[in-house]
Amino acid sequence: MAGDARPIGVFDSGMGGLTVLRAMMARMPKERFLYLGDTARLPYGTKSAETVTAYALQATRLLMAEGVKMVVIACNTASAVAIEPLSATLAPLPVLGVIEPGARAGVAATRNGRIGVLATESTVAGGAYLRAIAGLRGDIQVVQRPCQMFVTLAEEGWTEGDVARAAAERYLRPLFASEEAPDTLVLGCTHFPVLADAIQAVAGESVRLVDSAATTAEAVAHALAANGLANPGPVTGEAVRFFATDSPERFARVGQIFLGREIELRSVELVELKPA
Ligand code: DGL
Repeated sequence: MAGDARPIGVFDSGMGGLTVLRAMMARMPKERFLYLGDTARLPYGTKSAETVTAYALQATRLLMAEGVKMVVIACNTASAVAIEPLSATLAPLPVLGVIEPGARAGVAATRNGRIGVLATESTVAGGAYLRAIAGLRGDIQVVQRPCQMFVTLAEEGWTEGDVARAAAERYLRPLFASEEAPDTLVLGCTHFPVLADAIQAVAGESVRLVDSAATTAEAVAHALAANGLANPGPVTGEAVRFFATDSPERFARVGQIFLGREIELRSVELVELKPA
């Protein structure tokens, strides 16, 4: 096939998915992206599977209406509970989540066969990482920790200092007090990579922190190629546009922490998500 210049749609409850977008932009410089953060309704991680599924369907329908060629669910919580209904509703559009890539990164990193998964309450409760890791390697011991407060700290931009450190201590100390401590932590929420320094300080330097950003970017590049959807390039027009369901100004300001580069306010549009 000749290739496809349409953008890739990326969705998260807020700004966390920008950590995945960052890796995808680096891995696929010829692609255009359309990112939607449902900032008005964040957090998703404390909500029921039914609510998260309904929100994710509304968000991804909007991306589809904007003419994207693929949808990346850059949110572990939505990937964990809604990947099947999303794939069914958006078909034939390819839909990729972040759980499998995150699990793969964890399995590749562990040396002692013990992995800690840090995620939102909802992701932990659903057990999606337990199943994904067991599906890759049955002998790995997995311990999950819900760390919902990290989402708030990340969205607040409080990624370092006393408060971030105290939250990391509170969540992680019990994990590393044990003889059976993991040697690998999967950051099973796309908001958590910006807190990596605080997490690493408590876990210790020998513990490997992995997230789904790089492995998801790899999976997306592969899926584009397999479906004949890669853009032969070069990128024409803006490489990335952003939609937010609340305050574009705040999105542009705080989003830079996650994306690692400036976000121009004029590239962020306020959108309203409606029930189908
Ligand atoms: N960034 C999302 C995730 O990866 C969810 C954060 C939230 O809305 O609670 O799980």
